[in-house]
Order: sequence, then C-alpha cells, then structure tokens
Amino acid sequence: MHASHRESADHVRERIERGVHDRAAFRAALGDVPKNDRDGWLDHVLALDMIPEDDRLPAGCVPYLPSPVDALLRVIDQARVRANDVVIDVGSGVGRAGAFFHLMTGARVMGLEIQPRLVRASRELAARVSVSQMSCIEGDAVNLTAQIAVGSIFFLYCPFSGDRLAKLLAHLQQVAREKTIRVCSLDLPIPACEWLVREPPFAPDLAVFRSTHRDEGTKEIQRGILKT
Ligand SMILES: C[S@@+](CC[C@H](N)C(=O)[O-])C[C@H]1O[C@@H](n2cnc3c(N)ncnc32)[C@H](O)[C@@H]1O
Repeated sequence: MHASHRESADHVRERIERGVHDRAAFRAALGDVPKNDRDGWLDHVLALDMIPEDDRLPAGCVPYLPSPVDALLRVIDQARVRANDVVIDVGSGVGRAGAFFHLMTGARVMGLEIQPRLVRASRELAARVSVSQMSCIEGDAVNLTAQIAVGSIFFLYCPFSGDRLAKLLAHLQQVAREKTIRVCSLDLPIPACEWLVREPPFAPDLAVFRSTHRDEGTKEIQRGILKT
C-alpha cells in the first residue's frame, strides 16, 4: 500500500479510537484509495493483521474468508443500508464486514459466528470500533432464532448451504411476517422462495432480495418476475 494511504488509514483509525469517527470523512478517505488496495486499507484501519486459525467446523460449514470491500460497498448501495437498520452478518468471522457496514452507514450490526476464536476477535474489534453498535453472538446461526428476529438486513457471505441454509431461510420467513427485510447473498445461490423477490441489478456474485407479504410474492411469481 502506498505510504499516503497507510497514513490515511492511521488517521481514520485514530479518529475511531478517539470516538470521533466521521462517516463522510471515512467514505472520502476510502474513495481516495485505489480499488485493489481497499482491502488492505480497511484491514489497517481495523488493525486486523492477525487472523486466528479456523477451528474444526461442522460438515457443510465454510471457514473464514473476509468479503472484499468492493462487494460490501455494493451490498450497502443495493440493499440501501441506513443508520436505522440492524444488519445481521450470518457467519461473521472476525466482524470485519459488520464493522465496515457500521462505519459506512451508522447501522447497528450483529454477527452470528460459530467459531469461538473468531467471536473473541470480533468482540475485540467491537471494543475498538463501537461496543454499543457492534455485537457478536456465538453459536450455530440456524439455532440463534431469537437473535435473528431483530435484524432488518441479513448478509450471508457463503457461511453454509444445503439444509442449514433452508432452515435459516425458514426462520427468516417468520421474521419477514412482521416486517420487510432484505437478504443479501454473496457467492451463495439462494433457493427460490415465494416470499423473496430479487432486486436489480442482477450481478453474478451478489443477490439482494426484499421480502414480500406472502400474497405479493405469489403474485410476482405468477407474473414470472421472481428471479433467483
Ligand atoms: C466466508 S466466511 C464470511 C465471513 C464474513 N461474513 C465476511 O463477509 O467477512 C464464513 C463464516 O461463516 C462462519 N460459519 C460457518 N458456518 C456457520 C454456522 N453454522 N453458524 C455460524 N457461523 C458459521 C465461519 O466460521 C466463517 O467465519
């Protein structure tokens, strides 16, 4: 990374640590960093140089891999993440994506993470960034139904697929009976659900869905506009 970008990351980090984070200045500083350097820049801001080794995971669960900043920016735009949202990162790793969502938008973020070492790292990150607005719950995300209910936006960067994903979607459908939610899946195909409508643009790696009331979803399927 160029020295000037390292300096800007130091400056942004220092503001966060002093509790005087400024979202507009954060976005502007990120915008000045070339796309290829943005992941390194964010890691430097968040002081994420040492990532713990993965623990043994249950079958079908995917190890930790941070999502690229470029994809996170598209999630924020497409899902229209706002300060009054609660973003749930399903399989949150060290909390990097959640920290980014919070620093960019002011949204409250909650991670659900199965690996204890990553949960610890995530809580340490929250202590550096914003303890009141960032949290991490340890456990298998499909069992954390009470925690899931507070979310308005659900972000899934490929934590698992198959039966676990089907179970999670069934929980989310319950949540969507009470309020409209958005489900953002990165590199993870979501099976067709009549209560989820995919919103444009239709990128190959990122799908953003909005929940509908059951009837609305059914009508959209009948009109043939539900895309998965
Ligand atoms: C590809 S990483 C994504 C990390 C993070 N969401 C990001 O975008 O930077 C997948 C994460 O899901 C976690 N995970 C896998 N299965 C899980 C489960 N059943 N419940 C909770 N977390 C899980 C893994 O430990 C890993 O940290």
